[in-house]
Amino acid sequence: MNLNELATSLHDCRQCGLSANRTQVVFGTGHPNASIMFVGEAPGFHEDKQGIPFVGAAGKLLTQLLESVGLSREEIYIANVVKCRPPNNRNPSPEEIDTCRPFLEQQVQLIQPKLVCSLGNFATQTLLGRKVGITKVRGQVFHLPQFVLFPLLHPAAALHQGGLLTPLREDFQKLKSVLQSMMEQSDSPPSSESAPTDSQAPTLPVQMDLF
Ligand code: URA
Repeated sequence: MNLNELATSLHDCRQCGLSANRTQVVFGTGHPNASIMFVGEAPGFHEDKQGIPFVGAAGKLLTQLLESVGLSREEIYIANVVKCRPPNNRNPSPEEIDTCRPFLEQQVQLIQPKLVCSLGNFATQTLLGRKVGITKVRGQVFHLPQFVLFPLLHPAAALHQGGLLTPLREDFQKLKSVLQSMMEQSDSPPSSESAPTDSQAPTLPVQMDLF
């Protein structure tokens, strides 16, 4: 199954109660083989109407923060832990998260990002598989079996609590250096004994040349 087929299969998903109130499933958007994936919590009002994640106020801030570190929305992939808007933007319940988790896992498996940035508590806890507070783990690098996880504060939290805007900008600057060091690592030859000859010189991945 490819990403489009997965999206199509979820188009009329009725696996949890969120389907009763949503306008549409907000599957995800961006490059299907992105090296970097961002994961938020759940669609809000504007996302539910437009079918695209992070298009409201928090999304505008996210787009600015991405641009501040030289990333465009087109070269990354953006999704949420739950794909349907919870009524009145309430938190997704543990049951809703568990029901939707396999779809996020499938997205990750199909996209195969090298780096996943979780935005806020719900995405971080879902991807890390344990209960942690985002303020404790933000800006730390977690080497998980499938990808590197880099938790960041949620842009919506920074909009509600102005004091979090500076730490969020700092998280993005840290992200920039994490990206740089990941790029350097993938550029460096494996070791002097097995240094490739010219004809075997490592080529950058076709996709986006990020790492
Ligand atoms: N907040 C999220 O977590 N996701 C969105 O798509 C929009 C706002």
